[in-house]
Amino acid sequence: MFFRVVARSIYIICIFLITHCSCLIDDELEGHVLFYIYHSLEPSTSAPVYEQRGTVTYTTSRNEALYTDDSLLTTEKIEKLQKLAVTDDIYRVKLSTKPGDSESSIFSFTKACGIYESGLTDILSITLDQTGNPVGVAISASPPHCMGEEVSNARLLNFNTTVNFVSLTNAPAPDTLTYIQRLEQEKAEKARGEQGDNRSFLTKYWMYIVPFVIFLFISGASSPEGQGAGGR
Ligand SMILES: *[C@@H]1O[C@H](CO)[C@@H](O)[C@H](O)[C@H]1NC(C)=O
Repeated sequence: MFFRVVARSIYIICIFLITHCSCLIDDELEGHVLFYIYHSLEPSTSAPVYEQRGTVTYTTSRNEALYTDDSLLTTEKIEKLQKLAVTDDIYRVKLSTKPGDSESSIFSFTKACGIYESGLTDILSITLDQTGNPVGVAISASPPHCMGEEVSNARLLNFNTTVNFVSLTNAPAPDTLTYIQRLEQEKAEKARGEQGDNRSFLTKYWMYIVPFVIFLFISGASSPEGQGAGGR
């Protein structure tokens, strides 16, 4: 009994480790994950032209994100952004897990005037699925409202970006413990069921067997000659 309990515990722990090990190893090995941020300063009436803006370094083990600009905004780009702000147009961003890869990119946009008037202060919220792949990004300026103010170019040189990560941990995970418990339960029930069948084989059919035996007795006793004739 004791050994069975120990064996079962070891079995459950093994299953648990096998299913959870990959995440532990991932966490320890993949200390840093990089996300590449691009932006487009083209008006919404024309196709976006994404240029590299900066990099997000995400330390998964500490759930910390750091944004670094690739370069300062040039005067030409500041003017483009100002034009977007004045015309109440949008500011578009793109996020990739590989540099320059547009296939695995996700996109977001916000009011350009918010980005402009906040002096390039924005918040990026990146949603990751359980495997760590980005499935969504949202950009908002901080503060997000536009007052129609003019901002000096000195405040529009580099981004002041806060990055938040949201993990979809509520997604259904394999619940091995319940599964094992259910298997054990089913096994036990089956064993009990088989035992019950064995035990009840005689008791279950006694009502058929007993009358048959009595019938044999009666017919045998009443006609001993019939038995000899081979009637039965
Ligand atoms: C940078 O962002 C933080 C948090 O959003 C804000 O408190 C700070 O004033 C910003 N700095 C500049 C220079 O805009």
